[in-house]
Amino acid sequence: MNNHRSLLIVNCSLLIAMNPQIEQLRKLREKAALGGGKARIAKQREKGKMTAHERIEMLLDNGTFHEIDAFVMHREFNFGMQEKRYLGDSVITGWGTIDGRLVYVYSQDFTVFGGSLSQVHADKIVKIMEMAMKNGAPVIGINDSGGARIQEGVVSLGGYADIFLQNTLASGVVPQLSAIMGPCAGGAVYSPALTDFIFMVKKTSHMFITGPDVVKTVTGEDVTFEELGGAMTHNAESGVAHMAAESEADALFLLRQMFSYMPSNNMEAPPFKKGSDSDLRTEAALDSIIPDNPNKPYDIKEVIDLIMDDGTFFEVQEHFADNIVIGFARLGGYSIGIVANQPLSLAGVLDIDASAKAARFVRFCDAFNIPLIVFEDVPGFLPGTDQERGGIIRHGAKLLYAFCEATVPKITVVTRKAYGGAYCVMNSKHIRSDLNFAWPSAEIAVMGPDGAVSIIYRHELATADDPIAKKAELVEEYRQTFANPYTAARRGYVDDVIEPSQTRPRLINALHMLRNKRDENPPKKHGNIPL
Ligand code: HXC
Repeated sequence: MNNHRSLLIVNCSLLIAMNPQIEQLRKLREKAALGGGKARIAKQREKGKMTAHERIEMLLDNGTFHEIDAFVMHREFNFGMQEKRYLGDSVITGWGTIDGRLVYVYSQDFTVFGGSLSQVHADKIVKIMEMAMKNGAPVIGINDSGGARIQEGVVSLGGYADIFLQNTLASGVVPQLSAIMGPCAGGAVYSPALTDFIFMVKKTSHMFITGPDVVKTVTGEDVTFEELGGAMTHNAESGVAHMAAESEADALFLLRQMFSYMPSNNMEAPPFKKGSDSDLRTEAALDSIIPDNPNKPYDIKEVIDLIMDDGTFFEVQEHFADNIVIGFARLGGYSIGIVANQPLSLAGVLDIDASAKAARFVRFCDAFNIPLIVFEDVPGFLPGTDQERGGIIRHGAKLLYAFCEATVPKITVVTRKAYGGAYCVMNSKHIRSDLNFAWPSAEIAVMGPDGAVSIIYRHELATADDPIAKKAELVEEYRQTFANPYTAARRGYVDDVIEPSQTRPRLINALHMLRNKRDENPPKKHGNIPL
């Protein structure tokens, strides 16, 4: 009986396979899957790069990818292009899931005209972006392209502009994540630049406006691809990229991880994931983590790790402006965004890069309903002509603006210094922070005791018999009066002074308390952030 059944199944499948229309469809699919052909796929692999299809398979949950527009072909006639047409052209588009959640994805296929952007390539991307916005799911773009399709001229440029418009319209509606896995040059860089986060792969990905040859012609500089636009250039120096991965697989893994902290769109709450870490866990080590000497640094990331749910801190832009630390984490299962001054680098001052880095992150979290937790230990803004001429006023204002306009739950923990304008900027009570805690080690004042005494007691110090002893005495007096959390707490600028060991349970309780928070800004077309 069983034998008869299996014979029947074999016969049926033969019958289906012999249907010429289905046969043709299968052949077309096989052809489409080969992109620019086996030789070019081999070349892609020689460079240590995966194919566009393989990248999608690795990114998404197993077997969930649904491709559309696999039969689209370019419509260019010039330069003998009608003889060179590939099914799907140079990009693969569709949707699938990550951790069971819908995402739209496009992956540029370098084996077809170097992944260059034709009109139909742009149309395919725009189509899934429009679907993503209608259906409230993120767009993930995998970029590997020689830029505008040279044979199509201005039509290709128009295609880019169509994508830029969609990127801008989707900004703040659905998360947009970009992985750069090959060249990304010329104006093409502006699509990833308009998205929320850029992942680059060390050695194999490059982003620049003009390549080394043009740079040499225009400025005379000799520069390599890597120096000009490699992963570390953009992660550590320009601040254009947010993550530097060791390999393509690593980049896709990191991307999945980062996505786990985000909602699918601006109308949803981020995923809540309760782990095994107790909400009531206290951490005695925090009680002695602040050095006795206020000028001695400590690592704010240690503080973060001790407080967050087990091992969930996902740092973003680790290599850029490391005087401020930003990233996602889970606290009591809630997804949160962290902004923290880092005393280990430049004593945790705010400078141009740190302000811009944190401001953009705050705006992302606010756009996507992710509560913000701030750890504050900031001696002020970085003084100096470089900073002033570089526009620290304008850039510092970005961070101030971002915290002021944010309406998500906002909580601050002052671990040590909160001085000067930086006190106001770092999510102070005055700019609509919901809860401000201070550790007993907090020093909240216009400036540090040393600087303050030098200014307000200039004449006394100049005429003192022993200026050094006099200064020490005045510094101590100032410290007793202002360099503590109680002056601020007496006025309600700090809601509570807490024992450091209790920070985790207090923050989790605060997140529970604020989980239905409603706040809004006055109606307006849009604000005018100091760009
Ligand atoms: C059409 C292109 C192409 C392009 C590459 N190819 N770029 N075809 N338009 N922009 C084709 C090549 O002819 C080749 O075809 C295949 O893709 C692979 O390219 P190779 O040069 O063999 O690969 P590789 O040595 O790895 O070099 C990659 C590269 C190089 C660095 C990207 O191809 C390159 O410099 N391309 C031109 C980049 C460029 O100038 N683009 C325009 C930028 S301006 P075969 O048939 O041999 O496989 C721009 C403006 C955008 O993009 C503005 C938006 C607003």
